Amino acid sequence: MRSARILVTGGSGFVAGSIIRQASPEIDLHVVSRGKPLLARPGLTWHTADLSSDTATALLNKIEPAAIIHTAALADIDYCQAHQDEARLVNTGLTVTLAKECAESGTRLIFLSTDTVFSGERGNYKESDQPRAVNFYAETKIAAELALVYSEVNAVIARVALVMGLPVLGAGNSFLSRMIATLEAGKVITVPENEIRTPIDVITLGQALLELASNSFVGIMHLSGNDTVNRYELAKRIVKRLGHSEDHVKAHDPSGIPGRAVRPRDVSLKNTRARNLLSTPLCGVDEGLERVLAFQKGAK
Ligand SMILES: NC(=O)c1ccc[n+]([C@@H]2O[C@H](COP(=O)([O-])OP(=O)(O)OC[C@H]3O[C@@H](n4cnc5c(N)ncnc54)[C@H](OP(=O)(O)O)[C@@H]3O)[C@@H](O)[C@H]2O)c1
Repeated sequence: MRSARILVTGGSGFVAGSIIRQASPEIDLHVVSRGKPLLARPGLTWHTADLSSDTATALLNKIEPAAIIHTAALADIDYCQAHQDEARLVNTGLTVTLAKECAESGTRLIFLSTDTVFSGERGNYKESDQPRAVNFYAETKIAAELALVYSEVNAVIARVALVMGLPVLGAGNSFLSRMIATLEAGKVITVPENEIRTPIDVITLGQALLELASNSFVGIMHLSGNDTVNRYELAKRIVKRLGHSEDHVKAHDPSGIPGRAVRPRDVSLKNTRARNLLSTPLCGVDEGLERVLAFQKGAK
C-alpha cells in the first residue's frame, strides 16, 4: 500500500532530482516539470506542465497532494537581479499562490528558501535571526517567507545553505558540476575567498526534505552542513578529493564583475534545530562529498 501523496515542483532541477531519486517506492510521488519525464518507475507520476500562479489551482485540484516540496524557482542570483519582474512572479508570486491553495485544502507545504536571506554581516545565523536582503533574489525569497508566516498554511520554511552535489536526474544549478567541467577543460577554477557558507550535500538535503514532507514540524528550519567554510577553501578541498592539485583553484574578488549581484559575506547557518528534530543525519563537507560521490557511483 502507498503512503501519502507528495508533489515535487521543479522536477528537472538539481535539488528536485535528489528528492525524486531517493523517494521511497512506498510514496505516491508526483512531479511537476516544464520538461518531459526524466524517470519512469512504479509509484511516480510525472506531470509536464508550466507551473505558474495561473495554472497552479487546476494542477493541485487534479493531483490532490498531501504535501508539496516546492523547489521550483529562479535560483540564479544574477539572473534574478537582471530580471526582477520575472523573479518576483516565480519566486514570490507562485509561492504565495501555492500557500493560499494549501491553506484551503490543508496541504502541507515545504518551501525552499535560502541562506542568502541574511545580510551576511555576522554569520552563524539561527532561525529567529532577522533576514535582510542584499540582492533581489533574497528579496523574493524573504517576501515568500513572510507570506507563509502570515498565512494559515501548514508550512515549513526550509532555509537551504549552499548545495554541494552532482545532478542525479536532470541538470540544474550545481556549482560542483561547473567546477568539474572547468577542471576537465584544463582551466583554472576561480572562487571568491570572502564568501562564507555552511554547505549541505544534495543527497542529505533530499533526505531531509522528504522527512519534512512526512513529519509534523511547522516553522523555519535551517538545512545546512556542520562545517563553516569559505568558498575558496571549499573548492580546494573538493579538487583535492577529486585527485587534482589545489593549484587549479585561485581566489579572486568577483565584486567588480559587471552584472554580478551583490553577495552576502558570511551566511553560515546554525543547524541545531534540524539536528535535534530530524532523523536525517547532517554532516560536514568531507562526509557530504563522500555521500555525493557514493550516490553517483551507485546510480551509474
Ligand atoms: N542550489 C543551491 O545552492 C541552493 C541554495 C539555497 C536555496 N536553493 C533553493 O532551492 C531550490 C532548488 O534549487 P536548485 O538548485 O535545484 O535550482 P534549479 O536547479 O535551478 O531548479 C529549479 C527548477 O525550478 C523550475 N523553474 C525554473 N523556472 C521556472 C519558472 N519560470 N516557472 C516554473 N518553474 C520554474 C525548473 O524546473 P522544471 O524546468 O522542471 O519545471 C528548474 O529546474 C530553489 O528554490 C532555490 O532557490 C538552492
